[in-house]
Amino acid sequence: MPQIAGTQDFETYLDQTAARDARLGAAAEVLRAIAAASIELSAVIGLGRLHGQHGTARSSKNKDGDVQKELDVLANDLFVGAFHQTPVAAIASEELHEPLVLHPAAPLAVAMDPLDGSSNIDANVSIGTIFSILPALPNASSAEAHFLQLGRMQIAAGFVIYGPQTSLVCALGDEKTQIFTLDRHDGRFYHAISPPSIARDSAEYSINASNYRHWDTPIRAFIDDCVHGAEGPLKHNYNMRWTGSLVADAYRILLRGGIFLYPGDHRPGYKEGRLRLLYEASPVAFIIERAGGLATDCVRPILDILPAGVHARVPLVFGSAAAVELVVSYHSDPLFSAEHAPLFGKRGLMRR
Ligand code: F6P
Repeated sequence: MPQIAGTQDFETYLDQTAARDARLGAAAEVLRAIAAASIELSAVIGLGRLHGQHGTARSSKNKDGDVQKELDVLANDLFVGAFHQTPVAAIASEELHEPLVLHPAAPLAVAMDPLDGSSNIDANVSIGTIFSILPALPNASSAEAHFLQLGRMQIAAGFVIYGPQTSLVCALGDEKTQIFTLDRHDGRFYHAISPPSIARDSAEYSINASNYRHWDTPIRAFIDDCVHGAEGPLKHNYNMRWTGSLVADAYRILLRGGIFLYPGDHRPGYKEGRLRLLYEASPVAFIIERAGGLATDCVRPILDILPAGVHARVPLVFGSAAAVELVVSYHSDPLFSAEHAPLFGKRGLMRR
């Protein structure tokens, strides 16, 4: 099948970017390994049940207590195997209780969720691999210490989405976010669309609304205002989408704007939401910022938060800048400052 004339492939992009900035050579090697492993994983995912019981739960659990699926473990083994040939000092993975040391003197550390959204495997919904490449710390006192850095320190980050198309989304060095799509006929990623630029305004929100009763007041107020549409204080009609697969929701927002929210809530264990800072929120924040959007924990930029541990969770709100700023402003609005604020019920009347 012919490529679009002149379309650049991922390898060439990496060569050219690393030639402009020698510091990126090692990260480019890791990205090559991620691309190669993801092509293998994409083929396995594409076979579905023909390849085996991908979505079947194992008896094992990850550090967070989630039951591991067959494909979670297969994906983890595939990427860890691929990193053995790259300049990686240590790997942190959702599927590994503790980080793994590979080449102690190597310059990079990689954090990843090898297969995000695995509850969607059997439903044939898009799933993905999320990765974050950090500088390894020369004097790290433990493997974990490499990962306790601000997201702003990332050298490269992104995700591969396995959906109707398999696409690799990444930002490398100071470059903008780029999207490469896998040509399944020749097994290579090509630059098929222009670098995404997230619109500042949007009218689409993405949240698991079944948790409404567990949210804090500012989140309930924001979603109430979206639901009230043109008749409410935001004076605009909103649409809602929730895939339940972070990569799919992030990809949609890169292409057409919108806001994603997974806030902390009052369920046991969900005070800091569900998503992990190091290998979910931080890489997504990196590519969203490089595409003109914002990512916060409702108050602070995600990239300015120091992880408390490799598997630490964080509330995550990202997407179109104006919508994210609006959610931050609800969190500093004294009207919503106290949980169950007595004025909250009357707020709609007061603001209109
Ligand atoms: O991290 C796991 C994940 O599946 C994300 O991909 C997704 O955004 C989220 O969890 C969905 O959570 P919930 O099942 O609570 O809606």
